[in-house]
Amino acid sequence: MEKTIAVLPGDGIGPEIIQQAVKVLQAVADKYQHSFHIQEYAFGGAAIDRHGQPLPDETLAACQAADAVLMGAVGGPKWDDVPKEIRPEKGLLALRKRLGLYANLRPSRLFSQLKAASPLRADISEQGFDFVIVRELTGGIYFGNHQTFEEDGQTYAEDNLRYSEAEIRRILTVAFTTAQKRNKKLCLVDKANVLDSSKLWRKICQTMASDYPDVDVNYMYVDNAAMQIVGNPGQFDTIVTENMFGDILSDVASMITGSIGMIPSASMAEGSFGLYEPIHGSAPDIAGQNIANPIGTILSTAMMLDYSLGLSKEARAIEKVVDQFLDQGYRSADTLTPGMQELSCSAIGDYIAQAI
Ligand code: NAD
Ligand code: IPM
Ligand code: MN
Repeated sequence: MEKTIAVLPGDGIGPEIIQQAVKVLQAVADKYQHSFHIQEYAFGGAAIDRHGQPLPDETLAACQAADAVLMGAVGGPKWDDVPKEIRPEKGLLALRKRLGLYANLRPSRLFSQLKAASPLRADISEQGFDFVIVRELTGGIYFGNHQTFEEDGQTYAEDNLRYSEAEIRRILTVAFTTAQKRNKKLCLVDKANVLDSSKLWRKICQTMASDYPDVDVNYMYVDNAAMQIVGNPGQFDTIVTENMFGDILSDVASMITGSIGMIPSASMAEGSFGLYEPIHGSAPDIAGQNIANPIGTILSTAMMLDYSLGLSKEARAIEKVVDQFLDQGYRSADTLTPGMQELSCSAIGDYIAQAI
C-alpha cells in the first residue's frame, strides 16, 4: 500500500521521539511491504527560526495533501517571548483548526508491567483502568476572543469560551460511537453548575442519549472528575469534554499510567484524516539528552496506521511489541523502577523497530 505521511518533528524532544517513530514506521513498511512516503516539514519554534512563522504555508499544504500527519511537540523557552500571534503553540492551534481536527482521542490505560511506576496507591492500581478521553479540539476558550485592554485605570484580560450546538453535537457523536465500540459507558465532564456552555453540552447530550440506548450515560463536574480519575480510575470507559478541561484531565490521566511519555493521541477530522501526536509537550528540561520516552509517539504511530491508513494488523503489531518490550523489563528513564533496565530514547526505538 502506498501512503503519504507528513512528519512535523517540532521542538525540544520532538525531533528525538519522532526519529524513533519513523524508524518503527520504516520497519512496518519493510515487514508488510508498504511504501510510505515520509517527509519532514518545519513546524513550531523550528519554523519560526527558519521562516519567521510557526506554521509555514508549505507545511500546511503538505499536511493537507498527506494521508496523515505525525507530529512530535512544539514550544520552549526560546520562543516564550515572541509575539503571541506567532508563538509555536499558536501554530499548533492554527494547524488543528485548518485541518478540521475537532476530535482528539487520548487513551489512558495502565500497562500491567508499569504498576510500580504509577503513583497510584497499590490497591487502586491493582484494579487497573482503561479509558479514553474524547477532547473537543477546535472550539471553546482556546478559540474565543482573547484581549487585554485598559479600563477604569487598570488592565483587564479576557478570554471567551463559546460553543455552538453544531460543534457540541459533532463531538458528542464521536463520543457516543467511541463508547459503543468500547464498554458502552459515557461520562460527560463539565461545569454545568456554573457555565452556560456546559449547560448546553448537557442538554444536547441528554437529547442524543436516546439515539444510543446501548450506551450508559452519566454526568460529572470537572473538579470531581479530576479527583475520581486519581481515586477510582477504573470506573471510566469513555469521557467526553470540552477543549481545556480535556487538556488538563488528560495530563492527570497520563500520570497515573506512570508517565505522560506513554500516552498517544489521535486528532481526527471528519472521515479518516488525522494528526497523531503524543499528548506531552517538548519537555525542554530533558531535550537533547536522549532520555525522552518515545513510546507515546510510537503508539501514536500505531493509532495513525489504524485510523487513517486502514492498517490495523500493523497497528496491533506495534502495540504487541511495546508490550513485549515492557515484559522484558526494559524501561525509559521516566518509568524506571528498581530492578528494571533503563534504555535510552534511541535504544527504545531500535528495539521496537527491530522487533517488528
Ligand atoms: P511537557 O509535557 O513538555 O513536560 C512536562 C513534564 O513531563 C516535564 O518534566 C517533562 O520532562 C516530562 N515529559 C514530557 N514528555 C516526556 C517524555 N516523552 N519522556 C519523559 N518525560 C517527559 O509540558 P511543559 O513543560 O508544560 O511544556 C513545555 C513546552 O511544551 C511548552 O512550550 C508548552 O507550550 C509545550 N507543549 C506542547 C505540546 C504539544 O506540542 N502538543 C503539549 C504540551 C506542551
Ligand atoms: C496539548 C498542548 C496544547 C493544548 C498546547 C501546546 C497549545 O498542551 O496538546 O495538550 O493545550 O492543546
Ligand atoms: Mn496539554
